[in-house]
Amino acid sequence: QSDVSGDIASILLTEEQLGAKLDELAAQIDKDYAGKDLLLVGVLKGAVMVMADLSRRLHTKAEMDWMAVSSYGSGTKSSGVVRILKDLDTDLTGRNVLIVEDIIDSGLTLSWLVANLRSRGPASVEIAAALRKPDAAKVDVDVRYVGFDIPNEFVVGYGLDYAERYRNLPFVATLAPHVYS
Ligand code: PRP
Ligand code: MN
Ligand code: MG
Repeated sequence: QSDVSGDIASILLTEEQLGAKLDELAAQIDKDYAGKDLLLVGVLKGAVMVMADLSRRLHTKAEMDWMAVSSYGSGTKSSGVVRILKDLDTDLTGRNVLIVEDIIDSGLTLSWLVANLRSRGPASVEIAAALRKPDAAKVDVDVRYVGFDIPNEFVVGYGLDYAERYRNLPFVATLAPHVYS
């Protein structure tokens, strides 16, 4: 059957909770970047939802660009290998870059990405992430804006996938065991 509701075990964060948190983060970002130029860098594919929802809450003038990197393939475990699938179109020289991510799991993707973008001569590089799993951290990542710290369980929705599915759920949820078998 094609309806996803039977695949959801429990909802961790509702659309309303996510929206309220993004209101707070956007207000903070507006304050911090007042009078500055801002380049939002979304990390495809997971960051699509948070990029759309966060950027629409900003009053600061912002550009958007996208990178596609992958560390997971189609499974649930981080491989630690980060590949650039699509690079930025924008020259970062002198720019204030804010990386927008859906989740920090092991931290391997973002620690690699921050170092990569810092090497391109930007004025600043900061991170905004909707979710973070403190108990899954393999490397420390300095995150300026974080929505929610969540338990170390596999979650989907709001951009997060399992085998490319469930990204379109408007909430963050855990999957029923039958999905994995
Ligand atoms: C997921 C997620 C983050 C990253 C976090 O992306 O969207 O980008 O993994 O994991 P880490 O902190 O352990 O590195 P994924 O590589 O699955 O690609 P996707 O965004 O296209 O799903
Ligand atoms: Mn991702
Ligand atoms: Mg993924």
